[in-house]
Amino acid sequence: MITLEEVKKNDEVDALVLGAQKELEALGYTEHSIRHISIVANRAGEILRKLGYDERSIELARIAGYLHDIGNAVNRLDHAHSGAILAYNILKSMEMPVKERTEIMTAIGNHDEGSRNSSK
Ligand SMILES: [Fe+2]
Ligand SMILES: [Fe+2]
Repeated sequence: MITLEEVKKNDEVDALVLGAQKELEALGYTEHSIRHISIVANRAGEILRKLGYDERSIELARIAGYLHDIGNAVNRLDHAHSGAILAYNILKSMEMPVKERTEIMTAIGNHDEGSRNSSK
């Protein structure tokens, strides 16, 4: 099973995390560093733990938290959507099962309230 530690060591993840950081620094954001995504990963895991989820779901939440902002490497606009697709493909290349990588894709794709479909 793919763990957060393995995801952190992936070269593509590393490049995208750095790319996202560069993009956001250029736009004047100060708190989109590795520190930010690590805090989000930990909090996502803590929330699921408090809600009584199983260990694997907790780990998937942590992975989603760590990857949630990689889409910023493409563009701040719609970064939740681009990041979701990027994460899906990276996790596929790491041979994460399709059900798990789809859950992570959905979580990342919906993390930005500003880009949600509000027509419903
Ligand atoms: Fe974020
Ligand atoms: Fe974000």
